[in-house]
Amino acid sequence: DDIMASNSDSRDVVQVLRENNKNYLVLFASQTGTAEDYAKKFAKELASKFSLKVMCGDIEQYDFENINELPDNVFVTLFISTYGEGDFPDGAVQFEDFISNASEGSLDTLKFSLFGLGNSTYEFYNGAARKALDYLKAAGATLVGDFGQGDDGAGTTDEDYMTWKGNTFETLKDKLHLDEHEQKFEPSFVLKKLESIDDNVAVGEPSLHYLPCNKLTYNSEKVQVGPFDLSQPFIAPVVKTYELFKNTDRNCIHTEFDVSGSNIKYSTGDHLAVWPSNATEKVDQFLKVFNLDPGMIFDLKPLDSTIKVPFPTPTTVGAAVRQYLEISGPISRQIFGQLVQFAPNQDIKQKLIDLSTDRDQFAIEITAKYFDLADALLRLSEGKPWSTVPLEFLVETIPHLQPRYYSISSSSLSEKQTIHITSVVENFPNPSSDVEGNVTGVTTNLLRNIQLAQNKQETKDSMPVHYNLNGPRDLLAGFKLPVHVRRSTFRLPSNPATPVIMVGPGTGVAPFRGFVRERVKFLEKQENIKLGKHILFYGSRNQDDFLYQDEWPEYSKKLDGAFEMIVAHSRLPNAKKVYVQDKLLEREDEVFDMINNGAFIYICGDAKGMAQGVHTSLVDILTRKKAIAKEDAAEIIKMLKTTGRYQEDVW
Ligand code: 2AM
Repeated sequence: DDIMASNSDSRDVVQVLRENNKNYLVLFASQTGTAEDYAKKFAKELASKFSLKVMCGDIEQYDFENINELPDNVFVTLFISTYGEGDFPDGAVQFEDFISNASEGSLDTLKFSLFGLGNSTYEFYNGAARKALDYLKAAGATLVGDFGQGDDGAGTTDEDYMTWKGNTFETLKDKLHLDEHEQKFEPSFVLKKLESIDDNVAVGEPSLHYLPCNKLTYNSEKVQVGPFDLSQPFIAPVVKTYELFKNTDRNCIHTEFDVSGSNIKYSTGDHLAVWPSNATEKVDQFLKVFNLDPGMIFDLKPLDSTIKVPFPTPTTVGAAVRQYLEISGPISRQIFGQLVQFAPNQDIKQKLIDLSTDRDQFAIEITAKYFDLADALLRLSEGKPWSTVPLEFLVETIPHLQPRYYSISSSSLSEKQTIHITSVVENFPNPSSDVEGNVTGVTTNLLRNIQLAQNKQETKDSMPVHYNLNGPRDLLAGFKLPVHVRRSTFRLPSNPATPVIMVGPGTGVAPFRGFVRERVKFLEKQENIKLGKHILFYGSRNQDDFLYQDEWPEYSKKLDGAFEMIVAHSRLPNAKKVYVQDKLLEREDEVFDMINNGAFIYICGDAKGMAQGVHTSLVDILTRKKAIAKEDAAEIIKMLKTTGRYQEDVW
C-alpha cells in the first residue's frame, strides 16, 4: 500500500535521518512495548517544546555502522528495556552485537542520552541499559546528562522518567542552544474521516467486536499464516475453561487454548502471551468522556516515512478504542501535563497543572484511587465531557494495549496442541472510600467472562462486561483470543534422574503442573526409567483455593513415589500462618540432601515477598547444614543460579 511505498528501504540510520530531514534521533529497544511508549512520549515532547525534527524508531529497524557520521549537532536518545537475565530485548540483538564489538574510539563523535527500563526485584537490574552504557562509552561515545533508570519493581518508572527527562531537557537546552516554548500537540498523522465503509475497514472479528490490532487486521475466517509472534499473534479458540477456586469470592480460571493448525510449538515452562481487548463499559465510558462516535470511520496517514501507523486503518473509532488503546490502565502524571492545552475551562486547567506538577498530590488523588484516564478526567470536570481533546491526540498519546504473559500450566509432551494457563481474576473493591466500584484487570476478567459464558453461568455484578450486551448472550461461548508463545529459560533438567525442588505458592504452581504432567507422560512412554525425587512446595490460604487439588494425588500415584507435594496453608482457622519458606525449613535435611545430590531448584510466583523468603530459607539451610558463613551460603546459591540449577519465574 502507499504507506509502505513511501518508506525508504534503507536500514542505514544516518541515511534515513538525512533523507527525512531530521535533526534528533530517538531509538527504543522494547520487549513488551514500555520502552516504545516512553520513547514516543519523549520524542513528541522534544519536538513540540524545542521545535526539533525528531525521528523515533525501533532499534530493530536500523543498522548502525555509520552512526559515528551523524552530524555534530544531532544527538541520540536511547530507551532500552531489560529482559530475562539482564538481556537486551529480542529485537536489539544486532544492536548489542554492534556496540559490544565497536572498537575503541570508533564512536567518538556520538553523543547520546540513555534511559533504561528495569525492575529492581530482579538480579540484573537494568542490565541491558547498563551494558549499553558501558559498551558505548568504551567505544568513545559521550553520555549527555544522567543515565536514567526506571524501576518497575519499586513502581516508580514514571517518576524516575520524569526526573531524568527534566534533567536531560536542561542539558540538551544548554548543549544544543534550544529555546523552550509551551508544549503544543502537533499530530504525526493526518487523520481523515471517511464517509463510506468499504470492505477493508478493520473492525475486528464477527464473533467479537474488538480484537487487538497491533500490526495486522485480523480475520479468523481468512487462513492465518504464521509464524505467530509478538508482531502477529494467532487467534486461538478457547476450548475448555473452568473455575479453580471453591467457596470463595475470589476467582481463579483455568483456560485451554487450541493451537492446532498454527504450527505453534512450545516447551514446558514457556509463557503464553494473551492479547486482551477492553471491556464494553470501559469503552463506552471512554467514548462518552471524549464525545466520540464509535461508528466513525477514519484513516491515518503518517506525515513522513519514518512514522509508522500504529494500527490498521481504515477502522472505526469504536474498534480502535476497544482493541488498541490501553484505556483502563494506570495513568502517568505526564499525560496530565499534555492535557493542559485542552482543558475545557480555566478552573480545570489549573487543577491539571497542579496535579501534573505535584508528584505527591498525583499519587494521592489519582494513583491511589486506581483511576484510569476517563475516571480521572470525569472527576476533574465533574462529569462533563472533554470534547476539546482531538482524536489524534488520544490515538498518539495513550499507550497500546499490550499482551499479558502467563506461565503455561500444561506440558508440551502431554498437550501438544493445547496450551493451558492459570490466572487469578483481578477484581477487588476500590480501596479508596470515596470511589465506588471495583478495580478490575482487563485480561483476567475477560477470561472469567469467557468461562462463565462457556459454562452458561451468570455474570457477577461487580465484573466488567466484555461483550456487547445487546448481542446474543452466547457471544463469548465460541470465543477466540490472539495468543503467542514466549520462550523462557524455565526448563526441567534433561536427566530425569536429577532431583527437582519446586516452590510455587498460588498461581506460581502453574509451570509445576506442567513439569509434573511432563514427568507423568515421560514415564508412560519409557520403561525402566528411574526418576529422581521431585518435590513441590505449594502454598494456599486453605483448602478452598488449593489449585488443581484433584489432580495431584493422581500424579503421585502415576509417578510412584518419585513425586511428593508439601502444602503450606496460610489462613486456616485458629492456626498460625504457614508459608512455603517455613515448610522448606521443616524439611531442611531432605532439601539439603537433594541439593547435595545435584537437585535443580525452581521458584515461581511473587517476586518481592515469596521469592525473597524462599531464598532466605535456602541460605539458612546451607548455612546450618554446612556450618558455613551466611555470605558463603549466599555465594553457593549464586553459583547455582549461574549454572542454571536455581531458576526463577517470578513477577
Ligand atoms: P497469605 O494468606 O498471607 O495471603 C498463595 O497466594 C499463598 O501465598 C497464600 O497462602 C499467601 O498467603 C501466600 N503468601 C503471601 N505472601 C507470601 C510470602 N511473602 N511468602 C510466601 N508465601 C506468601
